[in-house]
Amino acid sequence: MIDVVYVLWDGDQKTGAATVRWRDEPAEIVELAIATGAQRHGLGRIFVQWIVAEALRRGVKKLEVGTSNASIGNMRFYQRCGFRMDHIRRDYFWYYREPRSEDGITIRDLLVFSMELDKNRPGTNSEQLNPGSY
Ligand SMILES: CC(C)(COP(=O)(O)OP(=O)(O)OC[C@H]1O[C@@H](n2cnc3c(N)ncnc32)[C@H](O)[C@@H]1OP(=O)(O)O)[C@@H](O)C(=O)NCCC(=O)NCCS
Repeated sequence: MIDVVYVLWDGDQKTGAATVRWRDEPAEIVELAIATGAQRHGLGRIFVQWIVAEALRRGVKKLEVGTSNASIGNMRFYQRCGFRMDHIRRDYFWYYREPRSEDGITIRDLLVFSMELDKNRPGTNSEQLNPGSY
């Protein structure tokens, strides 16, 4: 299997879903979402921490995730989860037939965040997350 879909359950309720591409190095969180009514309660961070732990288990060295240039909240979220800004894929959203915006910002580019997962290197983001501790 190449892209793996994970579902976060709260009892019998689906509260989140993520798709991760493990095929290449770096691995990539392709999609991540928490149910609207369950957001801002720490579940997104727990989901990311679980994915990081799974990445470490798989021996992944670097994990990436992208969000649009207009998604200010997501930029905060990923940095609070230990990711750092990596690079920009300009005009990534060229395929939108009609212009879309968020917070008054036209969605154009993909801002890619990354997390180095080499546990032997001091000062890596994975240490901040301490993924082995949950
Ligand atoms: C982005 C998303 C996954 C975050 O999940 P969440 O469960 O709401 O996030 P958490 O409660 O775990 O938040 C972790 C931290 O990120 C911050 N954060 C989360 N969403 C934020 C937002 N929209 N704006 C600012 N900060 C935000 C939280 O305040 C928290 O910060 P703290 O460490 O200072 O307390 C969720 O809001 C979501 O599903 N959004 C819609 C889909 C989406 O945009 N997915 C991302 C695609 S790139």
